[in-house]
Amino acid sequence: MPNSPSLTRRQFVTLVGAALSAFMGTLVGLPAIGYLLSPALERRERESWISLGPLDQYPLNQPTLFTFTRTKKHGWEKTVTSYGVYVLRTSPTQVRVFSNVCTHLSCRVRWDEEAREYICPCHDGHFAIDGAIISGPQPRPLDEYETKIEGGNLFILLREA
Ligand code: FES
Repeated sequence: MPNSPSLTRRQFVTLVGAALSAFMGTLVGLPAIGYLLSPALERRERESWISLGPLDQYPLNQPTLFTFTRTKKHGWEKTVTSYGVYVLRTSPTQVRVFSNVCTHLSCRVRWDEEAREYICPCHDGHFAIDGAIISGPQPRPLDEYETKIEGGNLFILLREA
């Protein structure tokens, strides 16, 4: 019957074979693809509290630079990143901590005691003691860290990409 709509036995076996092959391919292939892509899809940001030592060691209303380094390992690769933060103790128990990385093109700002401003040497950016923009090309104030005080010690929350 050449015009019959029903499948021949051979066609049926071929169809079932193809469907089984597709199913098995999916079963084996999806986890393999997921395994290969997982490093790229992984959420890389890590959070850690960094100790900046006793709060009492920081003078009042005087931005004080604190520096530290962090080492990250990705497989065989090891990266050391140095950080600088300005600690501004605004009262015996209150503190604000700013990144010393300029928000324009990431040069390091420095506190100028005479001008009472943070100054970025790269493009003459000026920031106020509270990180606000005074003048320059920078698009936003200095980044500020979340802080906590535990047992008289100051900590900042560091988010690393
Ligand atoms: S990098 Fe600081 S003003 Fe350009």
